[in-house]
Amino acid sequence: MIWVIGCKGMLGSEIVRQLSERNINFVGTDIDVDITDPQALAEFVKGKDITYIINCSAYTAVDKAESDADFAKKLNEDGPRNIANLANQVHAKMIHISTDYVFDGTGKVPYTEDMPVAPIGVYGRTKAAGEAAIRQNLKEYYIIRTAWLYGWAGKNFVYTMIKAMNNHDSVKVVNDQKGSPTFAGDLASVIIKFLNKNDVPYGTYHCTDLGEITWWDFTNEIKKQGVELGLITNNSCLVNPCTTDEYPTPAKRPAYSVLSKDKIQKTLGIQLPDWKISLKEFLNSELFETERIK
Ligand SMILES: NC(=O)c1ccc[n+]([C@@H]2O[C@H](COP(=O)([O-])OP(=O)(O)OC[C@H]3O[C@@H](n4cnc5c(N)ncnc54)[C@H](OP(=O)(O)O)[C@@H]3O)[C@@H](O)[C@H]2O)c1
Repeated sequence: MIWVIGCKGMLGSEIVRQLSERNINFVGTDIDVDITDPQALAEFVKGKDITYIINCSAYTAVDKAESDADFAKKLNEDGPRNIANLANQVHAKMIHISTDYVFDGTGKVPYTEDMPVAPIGVYGRTKAAGEAAIRQNLKEYYIIRTAWLYGWAGKNFVYTMIKAMNNHDSVKVVNDQKGSPTFAGDLASVIIKFLNKNDVPYGTYHCTDLGEITWWDFTNEIKKQGVELGLITNNSCLVNPCTTDEYPTPAKRPAYSVLSKDKIQKTLGIQLPDWKISLKEFLNSELFETERIK
């Protein structure tokens, strides 16, 4: 039996949706089983034959984390440690989701899994500490780092930008941070591949959609596709580029956080999709929540 933790979040809800669609047996929990409480976790597994634990829960508010470091640590470091310890006890494998923000972003070529982490904010630091806690306490783990995630269920950049373009004459978007967007549907289906293969070596993997773009590039494509699909009614909204310095945020973000996808593609024998194709799938679906863009 598969246990999805954080099953109501953006990624967790998509994993659960795809598991149901494929008739794969699972149980899902969210804040009802608090990952910071080892006893609550232990109580939950009693009498259940858990083979995989997929942890999608996290403290994901990157800016808020800067002034809420203790709580971010509890969720992003202590929680994963508790889950890893429990996985060890019940002989379950753990799949844990991490982030490109464990890197400092000074690189010029895609980050590979073996490059040293050097987070520049609280969120990235606590996520890196969570990864380390898992490696220390469990052998049978997969840590999957992703980036720029968007999915049908949840607040995310795509919904935010469409809503902004529908309600303003211009939007200002940073054009000096490079990364790769990731559609939660793509990541969820890759995670399910891990469940179905018994011979994938344990360790850390990077998984995003293919492409290397800025937030400004992303917004231009969202506008193009959004207008074509009638999701953006204000075709004349200007998408103006700006620098990170012109758009200050409480948390510093890596300037370059493209993750190399070579290892995961080679190991699983898959070709990850191009970000523009995945964006189309996201926008075109009946699962797209139109009330979020008004
Ligand atoms: N979003 C991105 O752009 C992005 C980028 C890179 C990596 N990631 C990583 O991808 C993973 C999934 O992200 P996401 O955006 O899907 O996250 P999300 O939407 O914020 O979902 C996280 C879920 O965990 C729940 N949760 C919070 N505290 C909990 C606790 N103590 N015990 C159990 N559950 C708890 C949350 O409930 P509440 O909502 O009620 O708090 C929420 O349902 C995370 O590990 C994140 O770090 C995300």
